Amino acid sequence: MAAPRGEFTSRFGFLMAASGSAVGLGNIWGFPTNTASNGGAAFLIAYLVLTFALAYPALMAELIIGRHARSNAVAALKAIAPGRPSRLLAVFIGLMGILTVSFILSFYAIVSGWMIAFFFDPIARLLGMEGLAQWLVQDTAMRNSIFVIVFMLLTIFIISAGVKDGIEKWSSRLMPSLILILLLLILYVFTLPGAMDGLRAYLIPDFSRITDPKLLVDAMGQAFFSLSLGVGTMLVYGSYISKDENLPVVGSLVALLDVGIAVLAGLLILPAMYVALANGVEIFDASGGLIAGPGLIVSVLPALFNNMGAVGILVAAAFFVLMTIASLTSSISMLEVPVAYSVENHGAGRRTAALAIGSIITLISLLIVFNFDPLFDLVVNFTTERSQPLLSLFICIFVAWIWRRNDILEEIKQGCPQAEAGLFWKIWPFYVKFICPVAILVVYFQ
Ligand code: PHE
Repeated sequence: MAAPRGEFTSRFGFLMAASGSAVGLGNIWGFPTNTASNGGAAFLIAYLVLTFALAYPALMAELIIGRHARSNAVAALKAIAPGRPSRLLAVFIGLMGILTVSFILSFYAIVSGWMIAFFFDPIARLLGMEGLAQWLVQDTAMRNSIFVIVFMLLTIFIISAGVKDGIEKWSSRLMPSLILILLLLILYVFTLPGAMDGLRAYLIPDFSRITDPKLLVDAMGQAFFSLSLGVGTMLVYGSYISKDENLPVVGSLVALLDVGIAVLAGLLILPAMYVALANGVEIFDASGGLIAGPGLIVSVLPALFNNMGAVGILVAAAFFVLMTIASLTSSISMLEVPVAYSVENHGAGRRTAALAIGSIITLISLLIVFNFDPLFDLVVNFTTERSQPLLSLFICIFVAWIWRRNDILEEIKQGCPQAEAGLFWKIWPFYVKFICPVAILVVYFQ
C-alpha cells in the first residue's frame, strides 16, 4: 500500500518550491555568463522570447500531467498512455528522466559544495584561521569530497521530511531570503566604481548577434535547464498542486519568477565583474571574452571580495549564502524525482529512499570528484545538452499527440473553469503539438 501523498498547502508554498527548483546555479551563474559571452542584451531578448514561447509551454505540459495523475514521473506518464506501446514509451521516458536528474544532481552537488566551502572562507578569515581559509579555497579532492557530502546531507535532510514539512517549508523560508540578499548585493555593487560599465555590457544589445545559431542554442539550453524541464521535476511538483489551483496562472508565475531572478542576477554579476576590473582583477580570458566558467565564481569574484577590505568579508559571505540557497532549493527538487518514484512504485519509506538514493548519488559525485577532468564535462554535457532537451521533446509529444485532448482540457478546467474560452487553450495545444517539438529538434541538431 503506497504512503499517502503530500500536497503543497498554499499557492505561495508551491510558487516558492517551483521557483526554488527553477532558480539555481543556472540563473545566478549560467545566465549572466551566457549573456556576457553572447552579445549582452541580444541574448537576454532571445532568452526571454524562448522562455515564453517554448519553455513555458513545455513547463505547462509537465504541470498538467503531474496534477492530473497525482503521481511520480513514471506512473504519471503511464497513466495517460492509452495502449501498450505508449505505456512502454512512458516507462522509458520516466526512467530516463529519473536517471538524468540523478546525474544532474551528481555534478550539481560538486559545484554547490564549492559554494559552501567559499562561504566558510570569509568566516574562517574573520576568526583568524588563515590556514583553514587557505584550505577552503583550494581545489582539492579532499575539500570537494567533504563539501559534496555536506551538501547532499542537507538535501537528504529536507527531502526526508516530505512535501509539506520539507520542500514547502524550506523553500518558503529560503526563497524570500534569496531575493532579499540578491537585492541588497545589487544595491551595494551599484555604488562601486566600474559597476556602470558592467551594466552597459549587460544591457546594451549587440543585435548583429541575435540570429547567431550559437546564441539561439545557448538561449534555449539556458531556458530549459533553468525551468528544470524534461526530467520530471516539474511534473512531480505539479502532482502536489491542489486541484483548485489555476494551472496556466501558476505556471506563468513560476516562469516569471525564474526569468525575473535571472535578470536580477545579471544586474549583480556583470557589474561586479567590471568592479573587479576597476580593482585590477583580470576578467577577460585569453581569447578576449569574459571569464565565464568556474573561474568566474571561484576566482574573479573572490579576488574582488578580497580587495574590498572588511566589507568584503560580509559581501563574500552573503554572496556564497545566496549561491548555496539557490543550489539547495534546486537540488531538493532533483532528489524528489527518484524518491517519489521509489516511494510510490516500490513501496519504499520516504526516509529510507531519500537516504539510499542520496547516498548513491553522493557516490557518483565522489567518483566524478576523483576523476574530474575526464568525467565532469562529460556528465554535464550529456545530461543538460543531450538528454534534457530530448526528454522535453518526448513529454511534449506525449501530451500533444498521445494524451486525449479532452482529458487535458478537463484537467485545466479544475481550478480554471473558463479555460476553454481563454487565451491559453487557444494557443498552447498548437504550441506543444507543433512548435515546441520542431524548435527543440532544430536547435538540438544545430
Ligand atoms: N533549474 C535549475 C537551475 O537553474 C537546475 C535544475 C535542472 C533543477 C533540472 C532541477 C532539474 O540551476
